[in-house]
Amino acid sequence: MAILTVLTYPDEFLSQPAKPVENIDGTVQNMIEDMSSTMYKAPGVGLAAIQVGFDQSIIIYDILPRDEKRSLHVLINPKIISSEGTTISENEGCLSVPDYRADVKRSASILVEGFDRKEKPLRIEANGFLAVVLQHEIDHLNGILFIDRISSLKKSLYKRRIKKQLRQK
Ligand code: NI
Repeated sequence: MAILTVLTYPDEFLSQPAKPVENIDGTVQNMIEDMSSTMYKAPGVGLAAIQVGFDQSIIIYDILPRDEKRSLHVLINPKIISSEGTTISENEGCLSVPDYRADVKRSASILVEGFDRKEKPLRIEANGFLAVVLQHEIDHLNGILFIDRISSLKKSLYKRRIKKQLRQK
C-alpha cells in the first residue's frame, strides 16, 4: 500500500469529470487500498480517485477517520438519485484545497446509488454530515471543488492567495 500525492488546486486534473468504472479489477482494488492509506494518513474523511490522479469514478470515506475502529466505505460509480432540503456545511474543507475552509450550501438529505468494491449495488440514504461528505466527494467526480460553490468574491480572494503562494515558491 502506498501513500499517494494528493493533487491540489489549481491542478487542472481536478476539474475534469471522472470516467465510470467498467471493471472492478485488480487495478481498481489496488487503487482503493492506496486511496485508503492516503486518506487515513492525511487524515481526511473522504477522498475521490481524481484527487490522486486516477480519473475513475471511485470515492472512499470514513466519517470517523481518527476513531480506532475504522470503517472504510467504498462507492463506485456513485450517483445522487434525489436530494431534499438545504443545509449549510460548517467549515467544509478538502485535501485538495489546503489551508482553507468555508461554509457551503448543500442538500440536507440525499439518496445515492452506486456499487461497493464487490460489485454489490448500494443505495444510501444520507443526511447530516454524511450527506455533506457524499455530496463533496461526488462533486469531485464531476470536476467540482467546494470552492466552486462559494461566492465568487470569496473564491477570488482564495485564488489570489494561492497565486501569491505559488509565486513565493
Ligand atoms: Ni475534497
